[in-house]
Amino acid sequence: MLKNLQLLNYRNYVDEKIDFDSKTNVLTGTNGQGKTNILEAVYFLSMLRSFRTASPREIRGIGSDFFHVSAFLNTSRGYDKLLEVDYAETRRLRIDSSPVFKASEFIGSFKAVAFLPSDLMIVTEGAALRRRFVNMFLCSYDKIYLADLNDYANALKSRNALLKNQNPDTDALTAFERILAEKAVAITAKRAAVLKKISEEMARLFREIKGGNALFNIAYTPHPSTENIEAHAAKLAADRAKDAARRSTSLGPHLDDCQFLLNDKPLRAFGSTGQCRLAALCLKLAALKLLGDIDGGGAGTVALVDDVAGELDSETQDAFFGIVSQTEQSFFTFTATPSDAYFADAKILEVKNGSISNAAGAAI
Ligand SMILES: Nc1ncnc2c1ncn2[C@@H]1O[C@H](COP(=O)(O)OP(=O)(O)O)[C@@H](O)[C@H]1O
Ligand SMILES: [Mg+2]
Repeated sequence: MLKNLQLLNYRNYVDEKIDFDSKTNVLTGTNGQGKTNILEAVYFLSMLRSFRTASPREIRGIGSDFFHVSAFLNTSRGYDKLLEVDYAETRRLRIDSSPVFKASEFIGSFKAVAFLPSDLMIVTEGAALRRRFVNMFLCSYDKIYLADLNDYANALKSRNALLKNQNPDTDALTAFERILAEKAVAITAKRAAVLKKISEEMARLFREIKGGNALFNIAYTPHPSTENIEAHAAKLAADRAKDAARRSTSLGPHLDDCQFLLNDKPLRAFGSTGQCRLAALCLKLAALKLLGDIDGGGAGTVALVDDVAGELDSETQDAFFGIVSQTEQSFFTFTATPSDAYFADAKILEVKNGSISNAAGAAI
């Protein structure tokens, strides 16, 4: 559980320290005050990435050349941990004041899942957003996945660069294609296994929330559909001329997609907005459940819920709160203090123009 959060030059927060001594925390305030920025900062400490931007530079407060975010984490194993990120020209990570050089050793000290209005697009838009979700999820689910993904991305870049030459070095191409094939098979296997688990959990959630006999599942279409490293490497070698002309590698998990199916029909094409929204919600709830199962009972999980709960019908909302309450800690944003009984014991924090105060009269 996060005990506090410190921000320096983090978006519209110049120098802010907030204490969280509650399992359920609510950030209230009108639009543009900095509620989502707090959720983003907590997410950044968990994943070293923003859910808003691929460029951490954008996070620096206007006119400053660095940002800092840190938090004191009370772990479920009974010891405390100080997590610190400094982002200037380079990134500096520390745990308990000792430098950490590998992102994978920092990521996942606690496991954050963000529920965002834009989650709907994971269901309704193109493959890239689904790949991004699966990648982010697997980075906190599986310590080695990030290394596989980085090795794959580096080899892909190198192969594409080599193919731009008139007479590319074939030995180098063969070497990179070998790495691509090995990593493609590893990445594909992990995606398949985890998507199967997410699919089963989502099917269960659909039934739990909506009742009836709605049949949900995820169909994963791996790219390549082979588990054979040699065969994949051979295909890459055979595609060199074609890929050189296209200026990209036309085979591999960087092109993967998966489909969300309700009663065997793709939600993306046939789902109502309500069904797609529910699928997006169940997707994130499934992610939260699977991450909470790693150490058991939701340990180490943090739910970040941005402007989502208000849009749900009452039965979905009840189910949603029920599942979110199984996490170790949760943060919600609302424009007004919620009246729902679920928040009776929550800590209410008022956000105003990049500064935070305990709301008057709230149970703290
Ligand atoms: N890099 C930045 N530097 C300074 N202010 C920023 C930066 N990025 C965003 N902001 C400001 O943060 C505010 C938006 O915060 P946000 O958390 O999205 O608000 P809310 O969720 O309360 O509607 C806006 O006032 C915006 O101008
Ligand atoms: Mg917001």
